[in-house]
Amino acid sequence: NKSKHKEKNKPFLFSSESPSINNFLEYLYAKYLPLNEGNSYVSEPDITEVDPNWFSICIVTTDGQFYGVGDVEQSFLIQSISKVFAYGLALEDHGRDYVLKTVDVEPTGDAYNSIIKVEENSKRPYNAMVNTGAIAITNLIKGKSQAHKLNRVLKMYQRHIGHPVYVDTGAVVSEQTKGDRNWAISYLLRNFEMISGDIKETLQLYLQQCSVIINCRDLAIMAATLANNGTNPMTGKQAINPDYIQDLLSVMFTCGMYDFAGEWAYKVGFPAKSGVGGGILAVVPGVMGIGVFSPPLDQRGNSIRGIKVCEELSHHFRLHIF
Ligand code: DON
Repeated sequence: NKSKHKEKNKPFLFSSESPSINNFLEYLYAKYLPLNEGNSYVSEPDITEVDPNWFSICIVTTDGQFYGVGDVEQSFLIQSISKVFAYGLALEDHGRDYVLKTVDVEPTGDAYNSIIKVEENSKRPYNAMVNTGAIAITNLIKGKSQAHKLNRVLKMYQRHIGHPVYVDTGAVVSEQTKGDRNWAISYLLRNFEMISGDIKETLQLYLQQCSVIINCRDLAIMAATLANNGTNPMTGKQAINPDYIQDLLSVMFTCGMYDFAGEWAYKVGFPAKSGVGGGILAVVPGVMGIGVFSPPLDQRGNSIRGIKVCEELSHHFRLHIF
């Protein structure tokens, strides 16, 4: 009974009434693997190999227990999930008031790469989870040089994950060549005086931050670090100033799933962020981080199996925060 578990402040997850977590993950894996829907994102088919049947679900609890099924160690690109962590770094670099002047905290209800509301309204990007806001956030990351900025981004990921990560250079070059929309967004943002400096450098850093290679276990550890108020439960080290966890989670909750954010909040009920690489990072505050990886996407750019799995996890373990 949910109210009882909330009163006792103990997650339902560990109640003896629920089947073991591993069994449930295996059940979800078997149930959704045959779901052959959607298309995987490849910026350039000649250089990227993506198997639509790669599928993994991982859970890391805030006390450091790991559960995982499927292709736990399969590499993929973090893509838009990076937006959460870049936002955290910008907040640490400049503080809340300054960052809020550059990027607001309103959901757009539009596609992740849409510019329309920025042009029509305030010229200030709506939130850090869509491309307009994320590019403006990347522009805020401090560093003495391009290399120094990239190094700070990589070190930041390392704190959240617990080991060093690297950039897929081919993916960066490909998105630099093909991503006209992101170029257009960047020029418009500079025209609106929402970003400054060299467009090429800002966009390169944005694409590098998106092209970091992770796996599903990493994703769940990153999520668990956010669930654990910014301390990585595996290393015991602080990855981000805990003052900003609330900022990250509220914006993820309202904007993290793009134009599906409302339905997600209603049905699943905990903050999450998706990326076109097929990852979904989800956070049950104080309890656990969830990583789901499955490349086929719906039209909004969210992993189809990922959404199904999170819906079932939420219902089964009663994780909806309300
Ligand atoms: O900005 C882009 O187009 C990509 N590099 C990242 C987009 C992304 O992951 C959006 N997600 N669902």
